[in-house]
Amino acid sequence: MLGNFTYCNPTRLYFGKDSLENLEDELKKYGKNVVLIYGGGSIKKNGIYDQVTAILRKSGKAVAEISGVMPNPTLKKLLEGVEIARAHKADFLLAVGGGSVCDYAKAVSVSVHCKGDIWDKYFVKFFEPVCEIVPVGCVLTMVGTGSEMNAGSVITNTDTKMKVGHVFNDSVMPKFAVLDPTYTLTLPHYQMVAGIYDIFNHICEQYFSGEDDNTSDYIAEGLMRSLLHSSRIANKDMLDYEARSNIMWTATWALNTLVACGKSTDWMVHMLGQAVGAYTNATHGMTLAAVSLPYYRHILPYGIHKFKRFAVNVWGVDPAGKSDEEVAKQGLEEMEKWMRELSLVMNITLLGADESMIEKLADSTLVMTGGYKVLSREEICEIFRESL
Ligand code: NZQ
Ligand code: ZN
Repeated sequence: MLGNFTYCNPTRLYFGKDSLENLEDELKKYGKNVVLIYGGGSIKKNGIYDQVTAILRKSGKAVAEISGVMPNPTLKKLLEGVEIARAHKADFLLAVGGGSVCDYAKAVSVSVHCKGDIWDKYFVKFFEPVCEIVPVGCVLTMVGTGSEMNAGSVITNTDTKMKVGHVFNDSVMPKFAVLDPTYTLTLPHYQMVAGIYDIFNHICEQYFSGEDDNTSDYIAEGLMRSLLHSSRIANKDMLDYEARSNIMWTATWALNTLVACGKSTDWMVHMLGQAVGAYTNATHGMTLAAVSLPYYRHILPYGIHKFKRFAVNVWGVDPAGKSDEEVAKQGLEEMEKWMRELSLVMNITLLGADESMIEKLADSTLVMTGGYKVLSREEICEIFRESL
């Protein structure tokens, strides 16, 4: 591998059935005032809320709550939460939920002691926090984002229609994350497959960049193959623990900075998808699924060797007697078949976008430069049009 990099991941993971039993010992490391952060109520229905609050009580914590963190958390909701955490003099933030809740907790953690305009500082100018950071721990209930072991936080500004992710420095990573695959078994099929595609695309975003022989790409291929295998099992039997646990573990490794080592990384599918998300509030993984094939078909000629390798090593395409282009295209055809098998949403019309939004979607799309092709505005519009 030719790139230089620094690797550090300070998040401690507790993985497996009953891993919540480690929460009590973790909580001992932090002060008395805990803010419990969760979403729209799934944790109350499936009993996780009761389990977590029992441990908080046993640990003698003074608990305030931020509830109702929505999928694609908004700036308005973030500002509300910051006030609650300030009023409670929060020593620790405990996020119980999916990527939205974990991302939101990280955004609160860097904002509680921050003076000034949080949106401008963190999500427009991408400054690193210089204030004290309130530590975060996560109990994960939805698999996909990797938020449990990374420093990313994605917030939507509904006024400016911008959905922006900031990957903060290592100090913002959760101190620990509890990953009990049984907690994910109550997810609806739609969320499960959206999460699976999110994982797959995280790996693609890092894989489709660079020309060097890089260990990260071999690891990425292994993760993708494991995910394809387990996703097919889970798609048929959502309660298959072995498949769901593999998916959970793959999600963490797909976006905890490991497979980005030595890579320039692309992230353009996410930029296109996040623009769709900002306008439609659609489920994150589905926004990615809806724009992926038009995007990959568009950039294929610029990264033909990697798309060929993807076809052979991930999708098992036999290259014998075929041109590089034929092999590469067949890889994307296999990928499309898998996506349809999972019932992913394959166009942005079904997510609420239409032709009249194309220019606005392009306005909301940040252009990345680490992939095989830096897109022009015309190309972005063309890809959105092909995604309708
Ligand atoms: O709100 P509740 O009632 O909890 O319901 C949630 C929500 O409606 C539900 N859910 C979660 N766990 C459940 C459950 N339902 C039943 N049983 C359970 N065990 O699932 C719905 C979706 O949850 P959400 O947290 O929104 O999903 P996800 O984990 O996909 O997170 C999406 C957010 O993460 C951001 C996305 O942009 C989006 O805002 N991302 C964060 C990243 C990061 N930190 O690195 C990277 C990603 O690319 C992504 O952008
Ligand atoms: Zn994602």
